Amino acid sequence: MRRGSIVQLVALGVVIGAAATIVALFVPWLPPNASEERDGIDLVFWFTTAISIGIFALVGAVILYSVAKFRVRPDDDSDGPPIHGHTGIEILWTAVPAILVTAISVISGVVLVQNDRADSGHLNVEVTARQFAWTFAYPQQGNLTSGQLRLPLGRSVELHLQALDVIHSFWVPEFGQKQDAVPGQDTKLVITPTKLGTYPVICTELCGLGHALMRTTAIVMKPAAFTAWVNQEKQALQAPPGQAGKAVFASNGCASCHTLRSANATGTVGPDLDKLPAYAKQAGKPLEDFVRESIVDPNAYVQPGYNRNVMPPFANLPKDQIDSLVQFLTSSSKGGS
Ligand code: CUA
Repeated sequence: MRRGSIVQLVALGVVIGAAATIVALFVPWLPPNASEERDGIDLVFWFTTAISIGIFALVGAVILYSVAKFRVRPDDDSDGPPIHGHTGIEILWTAVPAILVTAISVISGVVLVQNDRADSGHLNVEVTARQFAWTFAYPQQGNLTSGQLRLPLGRSVELHLQALDVIHSFWVPEFGQKQDAVPGQDTKLVITPTKLGTYPVICTELCGLGHALMRTTAIVMKPAAFTAWVNQEKQALQAPPGQAGKAVFASNGCASCHTLRSANATGTVGPDLDKLPAYAKQAGKPLEDFVRESIVDPNAYVQPGYNRNVMPPFANLPKDQIDSLVQFLTSSSKGGS
């Protein structure tokens, strides 16, 4: 190959590589980084991207150069020259990709192991996934439950995931880490939040009719604010039944599917709970019995216009919590709160 041709080929590669680099760097492909684990995940992402850009530049340059240089003239009907391969190049294009793919595997493996390791003073949160809601329990905080994932800033947390029905998958894009919740298995995920804020919790495994709505929020708080929230929630659960019911409503994710004015809930997957007295009349049952039945056995009566098997039964809630919830729903839907 003449020296001029090599210079042309290299120049083409540099231009293509530069264009791809600009696209990679100046388009915000990734959500903001809000956890320590995201650092490692981003490293793997950029390492792989850099390799891809290099190979893209090389292949693009050779293709463009060949198309321009070796194009056949319109009146040339002759056969091309016979080619017998080139052992040197074949060794090169086998060995180099093998080395690159191995490097990606090694870096990914190291990051996976690092991201699985929680600090010694970590917080434990039990995550329960069900069609179609998330609940979070805090065993070190008196088994407090919440419909939102609240986390203290800078403290590593170990999530233990459980699924009650089908496979779901826990994902907060800003935290990077992702893990399936599988019925009958205890899977875990480590997250160390590094930025205050509110982030979406998304189910990323197609799990049924309400999959797209199976969302809640992760709230990263200052450690003192987290402690204050824990104390406040504990008190709320010990409040008189009407108010305790509001806490039960909030902590079981009811608001993600139902509308209820007195709880500022605006969900539309399930029936509007402000209309409970009218529904009870349609079902032909006394309001309180109807509300209790709908919580523990939702398929017993399904309001026309809504689907069966969408709402999970909450029969395994402690009895005092069910009582509080029934009292709260009965009184709020009658117009009180
Ligand atoms: Cu749960 Cu998708």
